[in-house]
Amino acid sequence: MTHPLQGGVAVITGAASGFGLEACVRAHALGMRIVMADVQADALDHAAANLREAGAQVLPLRLDVADGAAVDALAAQTRERFGAPNFVFNNAGVGCGGLVWEHGAKDWDWVLGVNVMGVAHGVRAFVPMMLEAAKADPAWRGHVANTASMAGLLTPPNMGVYNASKAAVVSLTETLHHDLSLVSTQVHAHLLCPYFVPTGISRSERNRPADLQDAAAAPTRSQLIAQAMSEKAVGSGKVTAAEVIEKLFDAMAQGRFYVYSHPQALAGVRVRAEDQVLGRNPSDPFAERPEIGERLRRQLAGG
Ligand SMILES: NC(=O)c1ccc[n+]([C@@H]2O[C@H](COP(=O)([O-])OP(=O)(O)OC[C@H]3O[C@@H](n4cnc5c(N)ncnc54)[C@H](O)[C@@H]3O)[C@@H](O)[C@H]2O)c1
Repeated sequence: MTHPLQGGVAVITGAASGFGLEACVRAHALGMRIVMADVQADALDHAAANLREAGAQVLPLRLDVADGAAVDALAAQTRERFGAPNFVFNNAGVGCGGLVWEHGAKDWDWVLGVNVMGVAHGVRAFVPMMLEAAKADPAWRGHVANTASMAGLLTPPNMGVYNASKAAVVSLTETLHHDLSLVSTQVHAHLLCPYFVPTGISRSERNRPADLQDAAAAPTRSQLIAQAMSEKAVGSGKVTAAEVIEKLFDAMAQGRFYVYSHPQALAGVRVRAEDQVLGRNPSDPFAERPEIGERLRRQLAGG
């Protein structure tokens, strides 16, 4: 069966690495024209050159998704070059970890700026254009996919800023689904919630803008522990980014909203929902693997 995005137009943020790059590869396989947005110029140039060599029609644009005016310009350039996109993948994101009270204001600004406002700007800049295209042509279809995380559905300790940012993306995207269904049957929302998958995410600091770096503050013990844990968990993930993107494209073809890389991790989501509904205190996140919780406590205490 032909994929509904076959031959369409894609806008992908965070296109130079990880899930975004795999989405570009998949979009090219479907003959889509691709607007590639990313903040990291060298990686973007490299990725765009490889895709062009493979015969793809791409428009690489370097921008920071936290910058609303830059995302407006991205939308204007997309419209001018290719018309309304059939697929908008608000995927660019960054990670940071540590005890939640140890983060400075710049950490919050950076992570919420990219992970939350980046998605908000993508929705605000592209959805009206997509609805307009849908209105003009009953056969036109559009898909907006936002990358959250299992961290948006769970509250793993020692990564509160990231959790908060991804919970916002879950809420925003579920609401987008409801809002779209009030006005259209042709434009659909999808929520990607990956668990640990090997990509560049644990090296997010490489793209932190200078004005959002706190040069005076050395990383705290909890932040160093979080960094080491993230490198290990992400680096040892067995599911690949390409496999996750395949699931996303299948979900778009089949009209499914939630896309999970590791459905087995959903047991924790059920426990959390039951805690909330029953008014029970939050369950121990390490109940299944108490040794991990004990090690974390020991490390935080300096052992
Ligand atoms: N890999 C995982 O284990 C995992 C798990 C859950 C969620 N995620 C989410 O997946 C998404 C993609 O990350 P990834 O894992 O592919 O990591 P990645 O680092 O390989 O890719 C992220 C891309 O986003 C770009 N980027 C960073 N800040 C940007 C900004 N301000 N503006 C534009 N582009 C920017 C980076 O340059 C990079 O190319 C993120 O939202 C991340 O939070 C990843």
